[in-house]
Amino acid sequence: MTQQDQSQTAEGQITESVRLERRDDVALLIVNNPPVNALSYHVRQGLIDGMAAAEASDATAIVLICDGRTFIAGADITEFSQPPKPPGLVPGQEAMENCSKPVVAAIHGTALGGGLEVALCAHFRVAISSAQFGLPEVKLGLLPGGGGTQRLPRITGPQRALEMMVSGDPIGATEALDCGLINEIVGDSLADLEAGAVAFARRAAAENTPRPRIRDRNERLEGFGTEQFAAFRASIARRTRGFEAPDRIIRCVEAAVSTAASGDFEAGLAAEARIFGELMGSSQANAQQYYFFAERAAQKVPDVPRDTPQVDIARVGILGAGTMGGGIAMNFANIGIPVTLVERDEASLERGLGVVRRNYERTAARGGISSDDVQTRMDLLAGSTDMGDFADCDLMIEAVFENMALKKDVFAQLDGICKPGAVLATNTSALNVNEIASATSRPHDVIGMHFFSPANVMRMLEVVRGDATSHTAIATAMSIGKRIGKTPVLCGVCHGFIGNRMLFMRGIEADQMLLEGATPAQIDKVVYDFGFPMGPLAMRDLAGLDVGWNSETSSSSTVREVLCESGRRGQKNGRGYYIYDPATRASTPDPEVEQIIRDFASDRGAALRSVTDQEILERCLYPMVNEGAKILDESIALRGSDIDVTWINGYGWPMYTGGPMYWADEIGLGEVLDRIRHYHEALGGEHWTPSPLLERLAAEGGSLARYES
Ligand code: 3HC
Ligand code: NAI
Repeated sequence: MTQQDQSQTAEGQITESVRLERRDDVALLIVNNPPVNALSYHVRQGLIDGMAAAEASDATAIVLICDGRTFIAGADITEFSQPPKPPGLVPGQEAMENCSKPVVAAIHGTALGGGLEVALCAHFRVAISSAQFGLPEVKLGLLPGGGGTQRLPRITGPQRALEMMVSGDPIGATEALDCGLINEIVGDSLADLEAGAVAFARRAAAENTPRPRIRDRNERLEGFGTEQFAAFRASIARRTRGFEAPDRIIRCVEAAVSTAASGDFEAGLAAEARIFGELMGSSQANAQQYYFFAERAAQKVPDVPRDTPQVDIARVGILGAGTMGGGIAMNFANIGIPVTLVERDEASLERGLGVVRRNYERTAARGGISSDDVQTRMDLLAGSTDMGDFADCDLMIEAVFENMALKKDVFAQLDGICKPGAVLATNTSALNVNEIASATSRPHDVIGMHFFSPANVMRMLEVVRGDATSHTAIATAMSIGKRIGKTPVLCGVCHGFIGNRMLFMRGIEADQMLLEGATPAQIDKVVYDFGFPMGPLAMRDLAGLDVGWNSETSSSSTVREVLCESGRRGQKNGRGYYIYDPATRASTPDPEVEQIIRDFASDRGAALRSVTDQEILERCLYPMVNEGAKILDESIALRGSDIDVTWINGYGWPMYTGGPMYWADEIGLGEVLDRIRHYHEALGGEHWTPSPLLERLAAEGGSLARYES
């Protein structure tokens, strides 16, 4: 076919990932860049050349559509760490926006980031009902840099656009239709998309409908000014504390509003480009992009390939409906999987189910789910006091008290009850999974699934592999974990696994610094200011100061024991390291506690001194880095990045620093090691003994975050 023929009929391969096809009078510009049709340079080139060919052809309208599982899901993030590759995105967007023929974006899967920004340059957008739309750049430490901050507010209004861009969370097709982001939902299945979009495009051409450009629509920006921006800033202050991108996004929308008054869309785009440039390559953006790939790497287990057979999970059994069991059950009910929940007696069962119901009702009251959903989900929970009812469960999760003898006893019983091949999981937070497995005749089916509290909210899930755990049990636990919206990370057996083992080290130093003169408030403030949601002592108060405390064996041997002996239980009874206001849960330092600490220290002859904030930070975080390196060296974690994923999701380590391993790399492993050696000499203690792996990597100029064990 000659070039002349090609432009007449507009068919053929444009670049390696973009091709043109014809459906009679409509040109289809098709992107095929697996896995998620990211905007790699050949897609950007394909948009430019494909639009030119389609425009020059005798087609009357153009549909932009994607092969595979999704519409364009954004910029190609792998390109961010490389020198920029031309062409940019703008020429393709302009070709769409200024096209003399109607351009329709046909959307399925997820139109995200640059993908949505491309769709916003089409004259019309149609989608199937399962499609999602979002600008998640904020999660990568960026802002929408393809005109999204200027176009989205013009279509949805600034308030909703700000919410979407600052949260990064997508909206569904119905909401997108309601707010004018899309013009039509053309069906439910992928098969409906092309036909629906072509019909829409043909209609637009036949009716000679005006070709609206979002850039020309300023009316929704009117009336949103200083007061509204200030209110929005105040509303997100808490949840975006420490992150740089959210405020930059607001600044871009401010630019959209201020430049709209003079009709200067290009000035708004220029402001967006300039502010985008401030973020690209910043330490936060680098850390958050590292985290994006870290989270995906964590899903991969080298010796458990993707095609490993899994147990099909039609029903889950949960033993123990306490704090954890009830929350764990909700995860499965939320996605329609029925659960058998067994307690030791009727009263405990009733109490456990009552807590679950109240949790759902609270969510419904806030508008998160409907009251019908509350009932549907409760109906999926079958309560019982008979473990025999677990016989038809495919996955069992034990969540009884943290006591080895009890756990072994119930696992021995489960061994006799559960069907062959069922996965038997324990939610223990620290106990030895191999020992628990030894109570059964099928240790290959036994695994740890360590949820974090509150289990219906926290995304972290440590999947603990025992010596005998089968590949099928691992594949099943990792995959069901992802299905219920968690971030599963595989780890080996040791006391406390990845997360709690490192937490214990921070706790040792926090306790020690109290005896040297630091106050709970000072320690917590340093850790909070670093970016954690709360400090170590406030966290203990939240979890319950008496977790693991036994009044019969308590011997005033630690400050914590003394506090428990004095009736302090933490937030739940309003007194712990702090005093809590019963109505607001606001905390204030307790002078009595400070006196208890001083007395405790002086009884042991400890001299009080002033401890600097820098020392507090180092002594809280460096032993964790050291322990993380030991965890890697022992192959308890598969990768350094898995440790970062665990701490970011499980304990609120600030994502914009990349997690403990990445953070240590950024400081420089040599410097971190020097400080660890210094504290080892000054204070002693096993947790300060430098990790041999850390020593090696520091000497070689290696990386903890990129280390694979
Ligand atoms: N660039 C490059 N690779 C990407 C990518 C992207 N934007 N999005 C996903 N991938 C890769 C993943 O790394 C993964 O690779 P792997 O199989 O080798 O690990 C593979 O695609 C599949 O990804 P997921 O495992 O995440 O697949 P899911 O089906 O669970 O999720 C998704 C699909 C919802 C599209 C999810 O991948 C996602 O959220 N991607 C990121 C979207 C995003 O952030 N877009 C904005 C980019 S920034 C931007 O557009 C800037 C612009 O404003 C200028
Ligand atoms: P909990 O005390 O709130 O609940 C335990 C429940 O198990 C109680 O309702 C109890 O009645 C029930 N139970 C005890 N023995 C039983 C038996 N033989 N048969 C049936 N039910 C029985 O305890 P929680 O906090 O839910 O902890 C459960 C497990 O989860 C423990 O192993 C704990 O270490 C672990 N875990 C706890 C976390 C937390 O923050 N609370 C976090 C992560 C793990």
